[in-house]
Amino acid sequence: MRILSGIQPSGKLHIGNYFGMMRPALELAQKGEAFYFIADFHALTSISNPEELRQNSLDVALDFLACGLDPNRTVFYRQSNLPQVTELAWILDCVTPVPMLENSVTYKEKIEQGLKPNAGLLTYPVLQAADILIVQGERVPVGRDQRQHLEITRDVAGAFNRQFGEVFVMPEAVIREEVATLPGIDGRKMSKSYDNTIEIFGDEKVTKKKIMGIVTDSQPVDAPKKDLDKNIPLQLLRLVAQDKASEQESKLAAGGYGYGELKKELLATLLDYFAPMRQKRAELGKNLDYVHEVLRKGADRANAVADETMAKVRKAVGLK
Ligand code: ADP
Ligand code: TRP
Repeated sequence: MRILSGIQPSGKLHIGNYFGMMRPALELAQKGEAFYFIADFHALTSISNPEELRQNSLDVALDFLACGLDPNRTVFYRQSNLPQVTELAWILDCVTPVPMLENSVTYKEKIEQGLKPNAGLLTYPVLQAADILIVQGERVPVGRDQRQHLEITRDVAGAFNRQFGEVFVMPEAVIREEVATLPGIDGRKMSKSYDNTIEIFGDEKVTKKKIMGIVTDSQPVDAPKKDLDKNIPLQLLRLVAQDKASEQESKLAAGGYGYGELKKELLATLLDYFAPMRQKRAELGKNLDYVHEVLRKGADRANAVADETMAKVRKAVGLK
């Protein structure tokens, strides 16, 4: 089974990314041949500062390796080291209806957020389709917000296959429902764009401030707490320590126990959970030659697969 996923180097890794995409992706990687990459071409739709793009791309590499990606098992590379994807994206553009792209929810959201509607933003999902199809990815672990992009990928692959013959396998999104949309500290979906994230490798003091500031209801400390299924700190605690979450829930339900205590428990548990990864990341940061070497080797392996696919595609469409 071939597995593929990518993450844009568009900001700091947060726990929504980690539990929604990265941890499931790293677990799934053990069950097949995984291709994971840093989507730096995609990030150009929102980042115009070259230094920022370079730094963010390196950050994603460090994040993935620190969180447990095994570069001997998983092909790990930078998208821009696989320029064949842009050639494939162009060919796929020619079988993609514009209205489908204009109707994409993420496109509309990004325009609402104030991004300029450049052609890159519009054809973003076609480049994503190319990422997946160029390695013939069958399973794509992502968070729920990527579901529509996967549907577009299937539509585009289907359109190509109907027109030029069966070249592409149909990829499927793998979405873990229990972590598909994690809430941020303000209760909306955790996202860089809402500035409501809890970063994994962020400054501890800032993390503390953010966790203590998570919105909760206003039941008084003394009250036996009700309706705890909507409680954000509990939801987040459950991700890392089921048993502790149940214990906290009982204390809250009994009364005389406030959300401040719960938040302190959450902070301590999260810091504990991510401590080995923070340590590994600091070590990797001192050995960047190794990180660049991993990405170079990954690019070589991905290039070999991409060349095979492109030979088939070029033949099918008449470019050879
Ligand atoms: P952001 O919304 O912060 O910009 P990205 O769009 O870069 O995050 O998402 C990277 C990956 O993490 C995607 O697979 C996405 O589905 C997943 N993801 C992002 N936010 C969440 C969340 N709040 N809950 C679950 N998964 C998420
Ligand atoms: N669009 C994805 C995101 O914002 C990133 C991405 C680019 C991706 N290409 C991909 C994810 C291919 C999965 C497969 O998170």
